[in-house]
Amino acid sequence: MNFPSRLIDTQLVVTASEDEIRDEPMIFWGSFDWAYKNGGPLTRQAIVHMCKIWPDCDGVIDTRSHMLMPGMYPCIPGWHLDGRPRYPETGQPIFSEDKAGSAMLCVIGPSALTEFVVEDIEISKWSATHTYKSCSEQIAEMRPSTQTVKSGHLYQFDGHTWHRGMPSEHRCWRWFFRASINDGRSPVNELRTQVQVYTTIDGGW
Ligand SMILES: [Fe+2]
Repeated sequence: MNFPSRLIDTQLVVTASEDEIRDEPMIFWGSFDWAYKNGGPLTRQAIVHMCKIWPDCDGVIDTRSHMLMPGMYPCIPGWHLDGRPRYPETGQPIFSEDKAGSAMLCVIGPSALTEFVVEDIEISKWSATHTYKSCSEQIAEMRPSTQTVKSGHLYQFDGHTWHRGMPSEHRCWRWFFRASINDGRSPVNELRTQVQVYTTIDGGW
């Protein structure tokens, strides 16, 4: 199957201080209207920009504020796609041409900036039980051209566009905003007060 990279830098920029990232409410599966009303200034900046590209859309917004140490990932590491429905029995993503949502992404921070594949990828086989793991290993071997997002820029992409979270290289605050449309989710409109990090470090310290 061919996966065309559809990453677009909208050149619209959200600006934030570390204090603003720390203070921003975190939204879990919020509708666009609910997120605008219940989010903070950063969420509203991003939504105003988003509406210049998607003036009449509704979907789901997720935001996260992370305090990261070097080596920590703000999401599960590895190449993956967003906006894919999943098989109910296995929870694994469905790769068919007509079922892929679209998204707008903005990440702010000095590191842990999302990396995107920017060339078309051909993958013909994948594991039915560990789909992303098997694809991620193949993409790592292909060494495709990639682009790391610029802090604060709002990017558009879709469910064919491979990307991965990167580990932090600093002690830093990192803000994440993603608006998704047509990915099969319905809003649940929750504010979250905790966020997890991921690490490949073994053992204690
Ligand atoms: Fe993702």
